[in-house]
Amino acid sequence: MKVIVRDNYDEVSKEASRLVEEKIRENDELVLGLATGATPLGLYENLIDSYKTRGISYENVKTINLDEYLGLDKNHPASYHAFMFETFFKHIDIELNNTYIPDGVPASAEEECLRYEAVIDHVGPVDLQILGIGTNGHIGFNEPGTDPNSLTHVVELNASTIENNAHFFQSIDEVPTHAITIGIQSILKSDQVILLASGKSKAKAVKTLLESERNVNPDFPASYLWTHDDVTIIVDKDAYQLV
Ligand code: PGA
Repeated sequence: MKVIVRDNYDEVSKEASRLVEEKIRENDELVLGLATGATPLGLYENLIDSYKTRGISYENVKTINLDEYLGLDKNHPASYHAFMFETFFKHIDIELNNTYIPDGVPASAEEECLRYEAVIDHVGPVDLQILGIGTNGHIGFNEPGTDPNSLTHVVELNASTIENNAHFFQSIDEVPTHAITIGIQSILKSDQVILLASGKSKAKAVKTLLESERNVNPDFPASYLWTHDDVTIIVDKDAYQLV
């Protein structure tokens, strides 16, 4: 696991953007694994800028997102479909048909999980997966206790996750209680992983992650990243302060 420490959130976002840009220059048919949440917003802003000013094109790029809330239609403003469209996809030249996100209102959640895992295998494998980290160590919506062999599945969100994500909704009562997320095993199928963390609120999670090499365990799902051989963590000083 490689660790890159930068001064602040802006520098973390720039570094991540530089790495993604480099990968697209190497392979214009890159399959990018994308994340939602507050952390990757700066990365997306930088990538939009590199598209507009340096002509980095997404015409042949495919994206596969980590998760979606169950019960939210893609037109719901807090859905991850809407998040991705508003913060990234509508600003670049990507084909929306080449962007994959689990369906939040499937006829059968079980079948949607199987369908989405097949997307990961057939559209993918993901060349570069972007991850955030939850304060409880979750990656995607793989909450503590998740099986390391898990594929795409339905999860019940932890109280801390619901609380952390409430700011995207009018009130905490509107945050869905369940989601579809790709599993730990699905994440580990990626060729390369970049995990971003910023701010004091992530310092404990970053410390636990970096100390978990000899204690890979389901109570801290991000620890499974130690079993992958190409993971880069990009953090700012605030998130690195306890290490
Ligand atoms: P955040 O979420 O980027 O909104 O902090 C990260 C995560 O929960 O994975």
